[in-house]
Amino acid sequence: MTETIPQLTSYDAPAFEAAFATLADEVRQQSAALTTPEAQENFRLHWLGRKQGRLKLISDAWLKSAPPEARKPLGMRFNQLKQQIEQALEAPTAATATTSAAVQGIDITLPGLTRHPGIPHPLLETMHEVVRVFHHLGYSTNLGPQVESDFYNFEALNFPPNHPARDTQDTLQIAGQQARPSRDRLLMRTHTSPVQIRTMIAQAPPVRIVIPGKVHRNDAADATHSPIFHQIEGLCVDTDITFSDLKGTLDHAMKALFGSAVKTRFFPSFFPFTEPSADVQISCIFCGGTGCRKCKHSGWIELLGCGMVDPAVFASVTEERRKINPDDDAYNPEKISGFAFGMGVERIAMMLHGVSDIGHFYSGDMRFLEQFA
Ligand code: DAH
Repeated sequence: MTETIPQLTSYDAPAFEAAFATLADEVRQQSAALTTPEAQENFRLHWLGRKQGRLKLISDAWLKSAPPEARKPLGMRFNQLKQQIEQALEAPTAATATTSAAVQGIDITLPGLTRHPGIPHPLLETMHEVVRVFHHLGYSTNLGPQVESDFYNFEALNFPPNHPARDTQDTLQIAGQQARPSRDRLLMRTHTSPVQIRTMIAQAPPVRIVIPGKVHRNDAADATHSPIFHQIEGLCVDTDITFSDLKGTLDHAMKALFGSAVKTRFFPSFFPFTEPSADVQISCIFCGGTGCRKCKHSGWIELLGCGMVDPAVFASVTEERRKINPDDDAYNPEKISGFAFGMGVERIAMMLHGVSDIGHFYSGDMRFLEQFA
């Protein structure tokens, strides 16, 4: 494009002032339309282009042939116009910001990515809820290995080798262990109770711990069983711990989890590592205790096992502790006593959320999991 410039009729001030005012107006109007980089570039060439730019033409036509006394005021107006043009080029428009970002690979005009914030798995969330109740009672948390030795999983918990109580907790044995003494043979732990032993060997009373974790059993999968599931164990050992403490603690925990209207009752039961042992039932949370299909019309639902720690367990712990300190007497049952309990996480989660098939927890089906978001 050949650029044209206004003709300057004379070099007196009113004449060139009028000519510069026209030019300044032009710049103002054009700079309002600089919405794209192309428009900016055209504008730059139009005014500042080295050969045909308007400023070059003005400088050639007006400045060079001006009489000496007019050069200074002319030059000042010329520089003002140049500044005005440069400022218009410096101020980036929203559109130019966008497009220059696009040049760097980010197009901020595209719709944003939808981020799906993660949520804890409902089983993890249930574990946290239970653990939180006990944290408020002053308990801390312990964890233990899933691959456990026969000693911790069975022997120290008063399941002697070949004892029939082991049949209820059949599990996967780690291969190639036959050469080892039976107490050292490895297996997938069948419950979280071995961490009771690990804790007491490591720590003198008072002990107040909860132990959440994964356990394994040779159980066929059905709507309420899975060969891999989760438990939360509890252990409290101190001076003068009684069965009343056990009842009060679990009654509080069940009310905290299922609501203050829930009642508990304790039924005699058997576990090798507690004496006496009990099964804890809670009043049915679905019918309030009047009887429904969920509670098999009994009004009660069995939820966990518990009992007073058997002195045989304290004896196994003491034997291990004495390998380190022969005088150890921290778990002398004449001086201390304790209670323990164990509950299934899946069962509690199923009750809390009305889930009827345990398999949903492991399916990874987003339609199931999204309901907990
Ligand atoms: N370990 C038992 C099981 O898996 C559950 C249990 C019952 C744990 C009574 C305890 C307890 O600590 O006192 O069947």
